[in-house]
Amino acid sequence: MRYSSVSGRRKSIALIGMMGVGKSSVGACLHRRTDLALLDIDEVVASRFQMSIPEIFAEHGEEKFREAETEVLRRMHIEEQTIIVTGGGIVLRKENVQFLKTKTLVVWLDGDEETLFARASRKKNRPLLQTKNPRKSFSKILSARRPLYANIADIRVDTSLLTGEEVALAILTKLSRMNFKAESPTPARPS
Ligand code: S3P
Repeated sequence: MRYSSVSGRRKSIALIGMMGVGKSSVGACLHRRTDLALLDIDEVVASRFQMSIPEIFAEHGEEKFREAETEVLRRMHIEEQTIIVTGGGIVLRKENVQFLKTKTLVVWLDGDEETLFARASRKKNRPLLQTKNPRKSFSKILSARRPLYANIADIRVDTSLLTGEEVALAILTKLSRMNFKAESPTPARPS
């Protein structure tokens, strides 16, 4: 795990981690608490194709989805400090890894495998888990990806026992210890 110096730098924050870990809801909590812009890569890809992620996988294949994912990252307005919610496979391409490593502060949302699998399989919208044995597929993907997440993470949060709101708070606490600057002050606005 890398702990780059972020003191005084107004970097974007990227949320990475396995499917189902809660990146979107944590991203929404962080957005509410910081007022920073929010970019959910899966949402942008889905709206570009005008179809859901499972439909993109089924009609165009995983490779086309991966290309679109990279394109969204490449074209984002990096000058605006943003909370970037990534898909679980963002670490599969070198170009994405390079981008995240250099341009963002990377927050890895992790957890114990059973909890992560239970969350990921709650919705049936994950193309990579539409297999004969989703549990086994999940385990294989998780073992392959953990080292990739660890390689670019500045911060790791174990989300197993936490709500999205608690994860967001844990992230903000760690960021303030690192002297990380958000454009807007972090205290919550009334919801
Ligand atoms: C994927 C995770 C999904 C989505 C796509 C591929 C992956 O996003 O990008 O189904 O490869 O792990 P979530 O991580 O939000 O589920």
